[in-house]
Amino acid sequence: MPSKELIGNPSGTGPSSAGPQLVLLLLAFATELAAGSWCSPYALAVTSDGKTLYVACATANRVEVFDTALKKVIRTIDTPAPATGLVLSHDAAKLYVTCAAPVSKVLIIDTASGKSLLSVSAGHTAEAPTLSPDGSRLYVSNKFSGDVSVIDTKAAKELRRLQAVREPMGSALSKDGRLLFVINSVPAGRADAGYVAAGISIFDTAAFSPAGRIQLPNGSAELRAIDVSPDGAYGAVTHLLARYYLPTTQLERGWMETNALSILDVPGKKLLATVLLDEPDLGAANPWAVRFSADGRQLVVSHAGTHEISLIDAAALIKKIKETSRETSDDLSFLAGLRKRIQLQGRGPRALALAGNRAYACGYFSDTLEEIDLKTLRSATIAELPTAPMTVARRGEMLFNDGSICFQGWQSCSSCHSPDARVDALNWDLMNDGLGNPKNVKSLLFAHRTPPAMSHGVRGSAELAVRAGIRYILFTVRPEEDAVALDEFLKSLQPVPSPHLVSGKLSPAAERGKALFMDSKVGCAKCHPPGLYTDLQTYDTGTRAPTDSSPDFDTPTLVEVWRTAPYLHNGSSATLRDVLTIANPHDKHGRTSHLTPTEIDDLVAFLLSL
Ligand code: HEC
Ligand code: HEC
Repeated sequence: MPSKELIGNPSGTGPSSAGPQLVLLLLAFATELAAGSWCSPYALAVTSDGKTLYVACATANRVEVFDTALKKVIRTIDTPAPATGLVLSHDAAKLYVTCAAPVSKVLIIDTASGKSLLSVSAGHTAEAPTLSPDGSRLYVSNKFSGDVSVIDTKAAKELRRLQAVREPMGSALSKDGRLLFVINSVPAGRADAGYVAAGISIFDTAAFSPAGRIQLPNGSAELRAIDVSPDGAYGAVTHLLARYYLPTTQLERGWMETNALSILDVPGKKLLATVLLDEPDLGAANPWAVRFSADGRQLVVSHAGTHEISLIDAAALIKKIKETSRETSDDLSFLAGLRKRIQLQGRGPRALALAGNRAYACGYFSDTLEEIDLKTLRSATIAELPTAPMTVARRGEMLFNDGSICFQGWQSCSSCHSPDARVDALNWDLMNDGLGNPKNVKSLLFAHRTPPAMSHGVRGSAELAVRAGIRYILFTVRPEEDAVALDEFLKSLQPVPSPHLVSGKLSPAAERGKALFMDSKVGCAKCHPPGLYTDLQTYDTGTRAPTDSSPDFDTPTLVEVWRTAPYLHNGSSATLRDVLTIANPHDKHGRTSHLTPTEIDDLVAFLLSL
């Protein structure tokens, strides 16, 4: 998700003053929209005859309707917020569109007229709508509320919320519609544990209750999409498989990061196998969209990092998986002979749609639409979507998500920092502070305004860290203008309003927590003064682990701490409560031992609102 459609308090002066700034930013945003904006195609839907394509624009408030025969946009549907997800009703008479905001909207659009018939509210940052087989229910993943809205399509009413684990970004149904599989994009829990991975939550849609969970292999993160085969037997999930437990000394043969596809047994509610999409000397970074063809014979995966699609023989894959009978494959040749890689012309394909023998993919950063003939494997750009000129920051965002600039295409900056430059929740043993002392990935929000960089402050500035990242993490050399573009992108990041705010304001508990935070006897504001919530100094807060080279850590900003768990330099605290209790036994990190459990709750409520 791009950062700019969710508008928060840019100077980080706290949620209490978000009001006027929100208005200012909305004005700035409106001006930009008026001047034209990028589309950033993020979701696609196509009619079964392949005639009409709907394109959701994630950085613009619109859906483009594209005629594949005329090869042009025939209608633009305005939306109240950036369009992030699309699904057509089974008769194609209606189009459901998720529009992402702190209170998202789901529009029900009459496809004949292009008019919005009804709209339903959903959670924070809704996307990826899934329609039930009978068309009566719509399931929408609310990324930042961490849940799924169940919507009655006839009554245009939200019936329930199903609690996912963390940042759900997509779902798929069993053939009978009874089971809903929801992908959690980020791992939850401590990062210094032996097993760290995101997984799949399963729900019984009749009872609205949890019906199981599928654990993916250690290191599974950045889950992006899920699809179920037309016969309902198999599910396919795209994600990364991080080798976070190895020192980051090289990239070859997927040493640091591999790019994976997990195949699920849907009726059995279990993982069949995780296979790697890379090849021994060529990574296939950042797999995103995944679709089974209508006849179930092919699986198509888009690689947002290496700008290509993988076309996999689904039956042969399942057969080989069953013969291999191993859950996790570290075999970089597993797909040899079963898969074709097709290079696209556009940049950053995040969405796919299939109709008959054709696949449609779009370039998130190039604002282009491509048609791929699944028989001849030929691809052609069929449209340039309405767009705006490329800025330096936008180019930086493109590079940040570009795995093709990395040595052998294994990973992009976004592989660890997520596409919007936050966290994958994993620990990595980077080489800048010596070996054997893993650090939790840092969000890059405000990185340039809060020098020094890295937990021990070993890099004097974020600018230096960016250049080191290119050289020693992507193992490549790029012109200085690329580093400048990355800087500009990272400087342009805006905080997303916390899902814990109540109508944009602190809750009563958070208000009480704020008073404690500011209280000099507790002492938080001394090192975390409101504004950026860091005094830019380094301290010994008693959080050193035996493996750490020094007891001193750079004070981090606390803005957006609601979305950056786990906490502390080594991800050893799963929750904010743990930071203030278990991790602070001697009151070296503020004075917290005299606080009652309720006071700790209040302090946590305040932190979660920043
Ligand atoms: C393999 C995972 C990984 C990849 C890929 C990666 N980073 Fe990082 N990055 C980290 C970790 C882990 C940290 C925190 C290190 C620490 O705290 O000592 C970090 C920290 C940073 C920081 C410092 C933030 C701060 O406020 O201290 C910047 C800036 C940064 N990364 C930029 C980048 C850029 C730009 C790229 C791509 C060129 C990139 N990173 C690729 C793992 C990664
Ligand atoms: C003496 C300076 C100092 C004081 C006082 C202080 N902090 Fe911190 N805070 C730090 C440092 C340094 C870190 C990084 C520690 C680490 O990574 O191990 C930190 C980390 C944190 C984190 C984890 C952030 C993350 O992204 O992992 C939270 C939350 C936090 N502090 C909240 C508080 C609260 C609440 C108080 C008051 C009870 C407080 N701090 C008092 C310096 C301080």
